[in-house]
Amino acid sequence: MEPLVDKFGRPLRDLRISVTDRCNFRCTYCMPAEIYGERYEFLPKGQLLSFEEITRLTRLLVRGGVNKLRLTGGEPLVRVDLDQLIAALSPIEGVDDITLTTNAYLLQQMAGKLKAAGLQRITVSLDSLDPEIFGKMNGRGYKPQRVLDGIQAAADVGLLPIKINSVVQKGVNDHTAVDMAAHFKGTGHIVRFIEFMDVGNLNGWRNEHVVPSKELAERINAVFPIEPADPNYRGEVAERWRYLDGDGEIGFISSVTQPFCADCTRMRLSPEGGLYTCLFATDGFGLRAPMRDGATDDELWDLITGVWQRRVDRYSELRSGMLATGAGAGAKKIEMYHIGG
Ligand code: GTP
Ligand code: 5AD
Ligand code: SF4
Ligand code: SF4
Repeated sequence: MEPLVDKFGRPLRDLRISVTDRCNFRCTYCMPAEIYGERYEFLPKGQLLSFEEITRLTRLLVRGGVNKLRLTGGEPLVRVDLDQLIAALSPIEGVDDITLTTNAYLLQQMAGKLKAAGLQRITVSLDSLDPEIFGKMNGRGYKPQRVLDGIQAAADVGLLPIKINSVVQKGVNDHTAVDMAAHFKGTGHIVRFIEFMDVGNLNGWRNEHVVPSKELAERINAVFPIEPADPNYRGEVAERWRYLDGDGEIGFISSVTQPFCADCTRMRLSPEGGLYTCLFATDGFGLRAPMRDGATDDELWDLITGVWQRRVDRYSELRSGMLATGAGAGAKKIEMYHIGG
């Protein structure tokens, strides 16, 4: 069957499933500890989609064109029995790629189980190898070594290739980016530097906090010469560069300076069953209520197709104009930890 297409002709291809709004980190740019303290109320269990509900919706979305699944959070590994969800999703016919984005704090003990359940590969968030800077950025003082141990455990069980996502903030960790590249150069793991984005409403984002990927690439090139590489597939978010000495590749995700909305094929499912057609959306389309009210698969299918067919999102392309005019300034966007990036 042909994939669903949106108003701009973009097919539905990727589904990012957020399995929890909880996280064991408090990254300053995502869940600042001052706001997400002891008393903060995350979603109660009954409001989360069950694994059966997630699997049912995923089957329908696969019918609509999805062939790539990514589990996210919050932190997906804090959802109890996550391997059972993977075991239910991985055999779905039409799913070619199933992966997960994690901060890796719990990865060492879980890697084997995840692999056995059918997970194919993994992406790890790691913003700096400098213990002090990383500790500050994760809001909990956690050390990078535990993340590195998690990465090693994932590699040992064959969750490959491993990608390392590093959010770059000017004056916070940009001066440690070359070290990050150096550390993973030659390991087969692919570091991707992400321009700090204005996701959500709480991270105090300003354009001055962004280091344009072009500038960062020049800094890395001055130490380890690199050249551009072709994308692996149309609509790949990261721009690939390879080391001239053959020691692997790195990537840049430049949503601020080079928006990639034109090829955006991503649907996001929130932990409580909302469908979001953009990372910067203000509203989702709730599927939990119809599902729990007894909607049939055909009825759910009609709702899902309607959401994608009405889609006109291209926030990153509009961002600079909106910032200049102040348009949309009062709108409350969904938070990153709620739909997992
Ligand atoms: P693969 O190429 O399959 O490995 O995945 P990916 O490049 O989609 O990687 P990942 O999901 O790790 O995305 C990396 C980061 O890019 C996310 O965590 C976000 O910060 C950002 N990103 C991903 N998708 C979008 C998007 O649709 N819009 C914007 N603005 N940023 C995105
Ligand atoms: N800008 C860029 N990337 C972000 N992430 C979280 N918040 C932001 C932001 N404001 C990244 C995380 C993780 C992924 C889920 O998204 O570090 O790698
Ligand atoms: Fe947690 Fe990821 Fe948000 Fe950090 S960026 S607080 S690890 S969900
Ligand atoms: Fe897709 Fe929205 Fe990101 Fe553009 S801003 S690439 S439409 S998620």
